[in-house]
Amino acid sequence: MSNPQSVLWSPTGSATEPAPEPTPAPVEVTGEVPPGRPRRHVPVPGPLDGHGPATVLAMCNQKGGVGKTTSTINLGAALAEYGRRVLLVDFDPQGALSVGLGVQPHQLETTIYNLIMERNVGIDDVIRPTTVEGMDLLPSNIDLSAAEVQLVTEVGREQTLGRTIGPVLDRYDYVLVDCQPSLGLLTVNALACADGVLIPLECEFFSLRGVALLMDTIEKVQDRLNPKLEITGILATMYDPRTLHTREVMTRVVEAFGDLVFDAVINRTVRFPETTVAGEPITRWATRSAGAEAYRALAREVIAR
Ligand SMILES: Nc1ncnc2c1ncn2[C@@H]1O[C@H](COP(=O)(O)OP(=O)(O)OP(=O)(O)O)[C@@H](O)[C@H]1O
Ligand SMILES: [Mg+2]
Repeated sequence: MSNPQSVLWSPTGSATEPAPEPTPAPVEVTGEVPPGRPRRHVPVPGPLDGHGPATVLAMCNQKGGVGKTTSTINLGAALAEYGRRVLLVDFDPQGALSVGLGVQPHQLETTIYNLIMERNVGIDDVIRPTTVEGMDLLPSNIDLSAAEVQLVTEVGREQTLGRTIGPVLDRYDYVLVDCQPSLGLLTVNALACADGVLIPLECEFFSLRGVALLMDTIEKVQDRLNPKLEITGILATMYDPRTLHTREVMTRVVEAFGDLVFDAVINRTVRFPETTVAGEPITRWATRSAGAEAYRALAREVIAR
């Protein structure tokens, strides 16, 4: 009899080798353009002469499970493929970003929590390389949930993350902050130090309802804390071109947000949960898959914006 633990923890394939492609969808799923709009021309980015100062992007949506962490990892990896230096900041106590890059959060001695709360910890003690060349990680774990409570009484509590990453901005071209699914103090910290917000939006009717609240928070942060904050773009995720429902939702998103919506659309595919088990971005796990290509298309748009 097989061990129940191993059954529970076995993904559809093995964690060392990509499983065969699932049954192909009846519709071509590569790089779908949002309905009702011609694809914009996005140049292939050229090489850089030097690096920094970084553009900080908050990957933000208070709705859970919409693809924030998946997009942070894979956009980061795609930007690194284009020669950009990238720092990924895990700013969610769940530590999913760290796990998705093969780091076991509970085994970490220092995380972003120590960096924020303890004066004697330097950022270079916490930053670690990833398997992707040019992409580093500031990991977190459940300790970070205490920071949200402890920061409430601090002076300048909303600028804590900005102060923390400030010293390394010159080394990177992009800093991507993976936010937790709430509009609490940690997320406000990310918005307060960001140049732009990237909003992953699940192509599902109820996800539209939360966006108004998110926009409201972004406006408040722009008014009170960070006038330079812009909305970099809205990324449609979990798109299933076979269902009328997701196409309708997508049409409404494009109607509501126009050019803010990226041409790159991320389809729903089992490949993404697989990459989490593998601890690698899809650009390395399934290099030529539609999902990897979609995140490369997104990276080109982000660089062009
Ligand atoms: N395009 C996709 N197709 C199918 N599954 C996906 C896709 N993107 C992400 N997933 C899966 O959906 C789940 C949620 O994704 P992810 O963790 O990226 O969302 P999140 O917004 O960061 O969630 P949370 O709000 O909990 O932080 C994960 O299991 C992930 O592997
Ligand atoms: Mg997440």
